[in-house]
Amino acid sequence: MGSLADIPIRLERGSEQSLPRQIAAQIRRAILDGRLPPGSRLPSTRALAQALGVSRNVALAAYDDLHAEGYIEGRHGSGTYVASDLPPLPRPAAPPLRHKARWLRDPVAIPEAVPADLPGGIAFRLGQPSLAPLSRETWRRIWSRVASDLPPAGYGPVEGDPQLRAAIAGHLNRTRGVPCGPDDVVITAGAIQAVMLLARAVLQPGDRAAIEDPGYPTARRVLMTTGAALVPVPVDHDGLRVECLPTGRNAPLLVYVTPSHQYPLGVRLSVARRLSLLEWAREHDSLIVEDDYDSEFRFDAPPLPPLAALDEHGQVAYVGTFSKVLTPSLRVGYLVASRALLDRVVRLKRLADYHTSWPVQRALAAFVSEGELDRHIQRARRLYAERRRTLREGLAPVIGWARLWGLEAGLHAFLELAPGLSAVRVAALARARGVIVSTLDDFSIGEPERQGLLLGYGGLELDEIARGTQVLVDVITELGEAHATK
Ligand SMILES: Cc1ncc(COP(=O)(O)O)c(C=O)c1O
Repeated sequence: MGSLADIPIRLERGSEQSLPRQIAAQIRRAILDGRLPPGSRLPSTRALAQALGVSRNVALAAYDDLHAEGYIEGRHGSGTYVASDLPPLPRPAAPPLRHKARWLRDPVAIPEAVPADLPGGIAFRLGQPSLAPLSRETWRRIWSRVASDLPPAGYGPVEGDPQLRAAIAGHLNRTRGVPCGPDDVVITAGAIQAVMLLARAVLQPGDRAAIEDPGYPTARRVLMTTGAALVPVPVDHDGLRVECLPTGRNAPLLVYVTPSHQYPLGVRLSVARRLSLLEWAREHDSLIVEDDYDSEFRFDAPPLPPLAALDEHGQVAYVGTFSKVLTPSLRVGYLVASRALLDRVVRLKRLADYHTSWPVQRALAAFVSEGELDRHIQRARRLYAERRRTLREGLAPVIGWARLWGLEAGLHAFLELAPGLSAVRVAALARARGVIVSTLDDFSIGEPERQGLLLGYGGLELDEIARGTQVLVDVITELGEAHATK
């Protein structure tokens, strides 16, 4: 930026436009779009002519034009410069597309699910953790150590940094009972890349892929990008209704599930269903993708074994992430699966981004292996337990009109409304009073079977939860009483 040497000038000898005009036009454009800022030095006409393979007269004529237009100025004895008194230039921007291009298609035509923010409002946003429990001192110490080494000059291993893979394998053995070693772990750019790589590795257009309904819309869209036919499977208080999975020739090739904290209803897949899902997968030779996105947070409930800990046939691909336990901005997740499947995933990962960023992997490796992740989880659990208690207490008066689900784990809950109450109406009235909640509509295929609100509380302060739940109680009570007197 800022030197003509960096700005490619292309000349078309057969063009109707003369060579000086072509040169002047390209320099003018570089000045106007900011690539050549005011005051930049331009090469001498002799050097320019030589670089472009034209006669000096051609270069002189181009500069004369730009001079006459005021874009450039000569400084006596010191050369030619972009004029320093040009008016402020528009910011450089990519050229807009000026026609309806044939290639501009939307392969997955589903609207975005996130309700727009409301300035000053209280948003019970799903998937939002808090960084308050993170020790800044620890974070700074780990990063300064990472920063003291130069990054490798070449690419690193596609499967991920060996130290981080070992640290995650240790963490999963200890905390989740998932049997794996460092070689069974692949580091990804978040859980969603793991799901994308698995989908690409396994599915072809027309294959069937089962998903929870309601479920995680991003995973649903990712599966759709493969051209697979989606098979929605209903969810109840015990999680995915395994008995609704198609059997025989219609059995899906892949099933995506969130057993520890169903997204979005918040329920846990019962042990009986876990076993029957594994049995179903074995019988139909299908792959289970287990998304364990926020299992670190469990409250007053015994841990249930992940499917990956119960699997004996290599039919579960286990996906985890640092997005909830730390922050989604790190963009680091991981995947544990049979070596045969990982081999395919790794070949695709190489095509996607080669590997996840080295410094971030290094910092996380230290964070996990030095016990800092465990300490952070302990502190975060206490914080979220308080937030969860405030949510439950704040919503207590609404019992009768609504019922809370999914508080045993994770960072969000589902408030099911009594029959006759519309979740969309409650959400709209709450929004008018500054409180943002999602309804199941965005998470369901077709009309949701239940009416209710999704309440992410991980990222909210206690007073925000208290104020937000008060608004919800008011709105639901008003609507409930109006409904009752109808
Ligand atoms: C079900 C589920 N899986 C995974 C994630 C996290 O994905 P990532 O690791 O790509 O940030 C989320 C985040 O909202 C989620 O809801």
